[in-house]
Amino acid sequence: MPKRVRIAVFPVAGLGTRFLPATKAMPKEMLPVVDRPLIQYAVDEAKEAGIEHFVFVTGRNKGVIEDHFDRQFELESNLKIKGKLEALQSLQADLPKPGQTSFTRQQEPLGLGHAVWCARDIVGNEPFALLLPDMLFKSERGVLAQMIDAYENTGNNIIAVEETDPEGISSYGVVGRGEGPDTGFEITEMVEKPKREDAPSNLIISGRYILQPEIFDLIEQQATGAGGEIQITDAMQTLMKSQNFTGVKYNGRAFDCGSKVGFLTANIVFALDRDDISKDFMKELQTFATESQKSS
Ligand code: G1P
Repeated sequence: MPKRVRIAVFPVAGLGTRFLPATKAMPKEMLPVVDRPLIQYAVDEAKEAGIEHFVFVTGRNKGVIEDHFDRQFELESNLKIKGKLEALQSLQADLPKPGQTSFTRQQEPLGLGHAVWCARDIVGNEPFALLLPDMLFKSERGVLAQMIDAYENTGNNIIAVEETDPEGISSYGVVGRGEGPDTGFEITEMVEKPKREDAPSNLIISGRYILQPEIFDLIEQQATGAGGEIQITDAMQTLMKSQNFTGVKYNGRAFDCGSKVGFLTANIVFALDRDDISKDFMKELQTFATESQKSS
């Protein structure tokens, strides 16, 4: 049985320029889908997969994320006085346990690989999960939990992938697919943000990884890649020379909340799945659709 994956790393240092001015003073990871911030969904997914320690690689202006994962006594006592016990319980359930969080800073925006490297001392010599909170999934079973199955079967490095349209491919990392089923197949190569014609397949890296700690030394030696940044994909490609990588084409649907359309679609899909608001929301959407049909 391979060593258990206990730690998850969440890179949250990005500037969020695509969502300005909303993200001028607020971290993009705190943007809500319905009423939960993106970072909370990623932490929930990690908890479901059995993660016990949550490492956040933050940057300037990201202090609110640390506050979000802390108690808020004034608010809690207010909810108690007002008898809003359900809200109170759900706030408490969202929190990691005391001592289960660590925060470190990426001091300069040198790329995703560099952000992950900033967590090296906290992670130590253990396999770890890496979750990019921009990617949000709607799935019956959490995507990271699905990946843990593949990890326990193989002990390999694991990457979640999904199919994408050719137009979108050059915005992502792309893998080459070898032998094996969707639940765990051999990865033959990886390339970060390839030109459409150079992509080895239509399978993109979906922002969820399980990695062995040897990646850290490789990141340290990694030259800059796509976009002039230190890329995790390039370091993984080097690690492939000495370790195996397994791809998991997960069950579920991804929303790239780093893009406006992905974020807005996620809000609609998640809202329509909520018992408390779906009926009213659907009614509004239908009214809007009828009105805009009439006026077009
Ligand atoms: C990062 C990764 C890329 C991956 C993507 C998923 O890119 O470098 O391989 O496909 O996340 O969201 P970024 O979105 O930071 O440009």
